[in-house]
Amino acid sequence: MKLSVLGFAVACLLVAGSASASEELAKTNNCMVCHKMADKAMGPSMQLIAETNAGGDVAALAAFIKSGGKSANAETYKAAMPMPPQAKVTDADAKALAEWIMSLAK
Ligand code: HEC
Repeated sequence: MKLSVLGFAVACLLVAGSASASEELAKTNNCMVCHKMADKAMGPSMQLIAETNAGGDVAALAAFIKSGGKSANAETYKAAMPMPPQAKVTDADAKALAEWIMSLAK
């Protein structure tokens, strides 16, 4: 009995951990300095980006994350500036971030 309670607790931790793994990745890559989850900040909200890119190309979004610049969706976002290049983000992180952002679309 004690063991199964412990097992359940560990399972919960694992689920909670994986659910926020990419938000953590966004924080460690400084994305959240300019992006918020639901509200506009310096950059568009992650939610708006997800909905605008729904069904789009993950690889293209990952490439934009590294290169920055003026987005093809700038008309929608109405940000005051282009996104500065995020050259320090690894290819693997850029792909994981793009997949995570896409997954936020409702
Ligand atoms: C210095 C501020 C800043 C930082 C840091 C930043 N962004 Fe951005 N981001 C922006 C702005 C501003 C835009 C809107 C650009 C536009 O509309 O032309 C944007 C747009 C985007 C888009 C939309 C691209 C599209 O075509 O729809 C994605 C995705 C994105 N950012 C992801 C990230 C990720 C992931 C990180 C972290 C690795 C990050 N950003 C870091 C400011 C920032």
